Amino acid sequence: MKKIIVAIDGHSSCGKSTMARKLASRSGYTYIDTGAMYRAVTLFAIQNGLFDGDSIDTATLEAEIPGIRITFRPEPDGHQTTLLNGADVEHEIRGMEVSSKVSPIAALGFVRTAMVNLQREMGLQKGIVMDGRDIGTVVYPDAELKIFVTASDTVRAQRRFDELTAKGTRTTYEEVLENVRQRDYIDSHREIAPLRPADDAIILDNSNLTIAQQDEWLYDRFLEAIGQTNPLT
Ligand code: DC
Repeated sequence: MKKIIVAIDGHSSCGKSTMARKLASRSGYTYIDTGAMYRAVTLFAIQNGLFDGDSIDTATLEAEIPGIRITFRPEPDGHQTTLLNGADVEHEIRGMEVSSKVSPIAALGFVRTAMVNLQREMGLQKGIVMDGRDIGTVVYPDAELKIFVTASDTVRAQRRFDELTAKGTRTTYEEVLENVRQRDYIDSHREIAPLRPADDAIILDNSNLTIAQQDEWLYDRFLEAIGQTNPLT
């Protein structure tokens, strides 16, 4: 059966990774979470003291970046653990400190070039579901299936808040909403690879969809893209 590349872009906290992971496990494809890669670089910068308030020591980060190893370890439950230079950083990269510092890191040209190169290598064999902000526009402009996911910022903040509190992170809904809005602004206004739907992307607003509904919707688009139909619909 022909293998394709599925590119899933969209705003932060709109359930991209949940739907991408589900599609990957259903189709036997490999899931690649590119946001985790930018988060891992951000954690590296924090751990190495490269932040001074809001300013970043970009010269040191640029010198260090070729030596930063970001890999994923698949887990039996279908999740992936992000490794930074071999160390499990999955929990740390999801916290509020990394979340509040990742957008300026992801706006740096040399960081994007290094991540895009890695992402292209990961997809050489096709058969991947990759989620991010620029997958359909920059990383894989020729991807056979491109989805752009969005939802209202208040719905997204509520989802993210529920996720963080479930994991025991202490935060408030207002703080999370502010973070979602800030990231939307920086992600869509940055000079390099700003967040926008590819011209040929299919737009999905999932504000009022259940996870099961969006999974079915995506699976149908996937079957169409590989030239099959869903026997259940
Ligand atoms: O999807 P996420 O929230 O884990 O992404 C973290 C940050 O990384 C987000 O602010 C946008 C940025 N990002 C990006 O610029 N390009 C990507 N392909 C993926 C994420």
